[in-house]
Amino acid sequence: MLMEWQQTFETGILEFDEHHKQLVDLLNMAHDGACYGAETDELDAVINELIKYTEYHFISEEYWMEEYNYPFLISHRQEHQEFTKTIVQFHNDFQQGKAHLSMEILTFLMEWFNTHILGSDAKYGAFFTTLKQNASVLP
Ligand SMILES: [Fe+2]
Ligand SMILES: [Fe+2]
Repeated sequence: MLMEWQQTFETGILEFDEHHKQLVDLLNMAHDGACYGAETDELDAVINELIKYTEYHFISEEYWMEEYNYPFLISHRQEHQEFTKTIVQFHNDFQQGKAHLSMEILTFLMEWFNTHILGSDAKYGAFFTTLKQNASVLP
């Protein structure tokens, strides 16, 4: 296991908390696969799943931010885009045999999730909490 789910990750939006848990699980699967010498094909499948799920999660967050006129949508989206670019680039290198699923890349992914969830995602969590206090129609 690379990282454990922490209660401090909670954003207050159940759907996104579930997404984040899923992302932590996928990252742990990638880590465990690399540690226990999984086949390249298996690792490729996990990386692929991690990318697909990350993209789905980012789209969901951004859609929600648009829906509620979140004021920091643009910078948040930029962070998502930069991360997607990095992981897709890594995946290409991995598939061409130019990169391994190393501890270095796994640590980068873990730290990015940590920083992003506790920083930028927590920020929309706080925004949402304020919205909820001012309206009773929100989920
Ligand atoms: Fe985000
Ligand atoms: Fe997120």
